[in-house]
Amino acid sequence: MTQDITPQLASPSTAVVITGGASGLGKASARALAAVGRPVAIWDLDDRRAKTAAEEIASEFGVTAVGMGVDVRDLSAIAAAAEGTRALLLGIGGLVHCAGIVDTDSIDGLTQASWDSGIAVHLRAIPFLIKAFLPDLKANPGSAIVATASINATLGNAVNPVYSAGKGGVLSLVRSLADRLAVDGIRINSVSPGQIVTPMMQSAIQARGPDFFEQRILLGRMGEPEEIGRVVRFLLSDEASYITAAEIVVDGGNISSQR
Ligand SMILES: NC(=O)c1ccc[n+]([C@@H]2O[C@H](COP(=O)([O-])OP(=O)(O)OC[C@H]3O[C@@H](n4cnc5c(N)ncnc54)[C@H](O)[C@@H]3O)[C@@H](O)[C@H]2O)c1
Repeated sequence: MTQDITPQLASPSTAVVITGGASGLGKASARALAAVGRPVAIWDLDDRRAKTAAEEIASEFGVTAVGMGVDVRDLSAIAAAAEGTRALLLGIGGLVHCAGIVDTDSIDGLTQASWDSGIAVHLRAIPFLIKAFLPDLKANPGSAIVATASINATLGNAVNPVYSAGKGGVLSLVRSLADRLAVDGIRINSVSPGQIVTPMMQSAIQARGPDFFEQRILLGRMGEPEEIGRVVRFLLSDEASYITAAEIVVDGGNISSQR
């Protein structure tokens, strides 16, 4: 049988929920999806920034976009926000987990609270987000999920053990969930960005200078948020119809580098 090779980046046309969507990679992913006409729900810790981002996206791309304040560490907040989103957006068929924070105190500053918070935002949120939207994802053909991991899932970094453990967990969690979700026709993949210029990276860039990061990267520069957004959009589209349980590394050649 010959497969259809017409471009399918805008298919399916279902709505996508993006956590951490008010900033950085989440916002870039929301913009990339809106640019091909997909409605978006921006979830973020910061209600005002979530609503502002949604308004900007709606006006720039002419799609339906809603913004909501949600702390994804709070499982009851996830369930309530899923209800609220479903009431506002028809046909949810995509989910992107981009919310994140980074610990910088190494093991010396580690506390139970910092461990619990980091693991809750990066890792624990994922299965509960999926559970909350499973009926929607199942009902809409071509549904897909992207979980944001990091090159820190693979590379050692003394500075942020909680972050690195959370991101390592994302890779194996995605492989486990892919097996279960395939039964319902849903794909799930992880994206591992390298160093991308977002608010999260600003203090590290200021403290160490861009050269510190760039000298190792084969392409010789840090990444731009849109370079992640386009990959997320691809993975959520029918262009990626045979990709599930994969880790897509988008790091300009960082993990592979011997420089
Ligand atoms: N920027 C990079 O170089 C890089 C590299 C690898 C992985 N990542 C990952 O990409 C994701 C996005 O990071 P970014 O660089 O865009 O950072 P960012 O700080 O620009 O955006 C993160 C967003 O997540 C939101 N957020 C934080 N905690 C939350 C919570 N509990 N509930 C809901 N929202 C919450 C923040 O308010 C913020 O808007 C993160 O998971 C991060 O770990 C980033």
